[in-house]
Amino acid sequence: MKGLILAGGAGTRLHPLTRAITKQLLPVYDKPMIYYPLSLLMLTGIQDHLIITTQEDLPNFQRVLGDGSQLGISITYHVQDNPNGIADAFLLAESFLDQSPVTFILGDNIFYGHGLPSTIKLAQTNNRGATLFGHYVQDPERYGVATCDTQGNVVCLEEKPSNPRSNLAVTGLYIYDKHVCEMAKQLTPSDRGELEITDLNKCYLERQCLNLEVLGRGTAWLDTGTHESLSEASKFIEVIENRQGLKIACLEEVAYRQGFISKKDLLHLASSFKNDYGTYLNLIADEL
Ligand code: DAU
Repeated sequence: MKGLILAGGAGTRLHPLTRAITKQLLPVYDKPMIYYPLSLLMLTGIQDHLIITTQEDLPNFQRVLGDGSQLGISITYHVQDNPNGIADAFLLAESFLDQSPVTFILGDNIFYGHGLPSTIKLAQTNNRGATLFGHYVQDPERYGVATCDTQGNVVCLEEKPSNPRSNLAVTGLYIYDKHVCEMAKQLTPSDRGELEITDLNKCYLERQCLNLEVLGRGTAWLDTGTHESLSEASKFIEVIENRQGLKIACLEEVAYRQGFISKKDLLHLASSFKNDYGTYLNLIADEL
């Protein structure tokens, strides 16, 4: 299983914040946003990742994450020249994926909840075609929306419908089998000129090989699409971290707990931070 993160786009909705820095590197409390989706993929055991971003932002991602070797993982990068749509990621990632199944996450999607990595791992194991993760929201018209029958099978997928048939949003986390690049090649641009992820998912639905896992109320799926929701996401992380004394999406901690790096490696990483973040990593290293 490989990991794919889409972290490009114009970020116009967050201007002027995103004039000089891409949305996925903006702070969410004490870490860049990209830490959250990347840590989730790592928590499912994935060590081979591709990040797709813009030409201008690529050096910034490299400054933040490097090639991943310090975390015991591999991170490669690919440029998306134009924001041609989310499903364009699979045209760009074809040689990286090399027929491997993939867990795909949007670089601005933040998830938090007990047992989430296990839920995703199980879905990775059981995936036949595509697996989507649904979450109930108040404002489904802002997202891809799934409608299910009484057995929980998806019967309809719509992208940002003006009259949503349900409140079940399709989150930006997807698992696909080895056919995903072939399927993406068959897509044509939508009216807004993008290769839509919802159209890709509809192809799997038509072939009757699409599954949707509903993430329960114990899972938070945080929005970062507006100034208010971005600020709320930061507050959410701050409240939980300060209450528990444990960090969410601390990549170095995740790498250590996953066994990707040794205690010595963690201590070395800790020494590179001259602040509370470094103190925290030292505490983690002492703990186990
Ligand atoms: O967050 C989940 C939602 O993400 C899904 O429910 C929708 O079905 C899906 O279309 C998507 O909706 P958004 O309105 O959030 O898509 P947006 O255009 O904002 O793109 C999501 C992220 O992907 C954003 O961080 C920018 C990045 N992106 C987007 C496009 C279109 C790229 O890197 N390249 C692109 O070409």
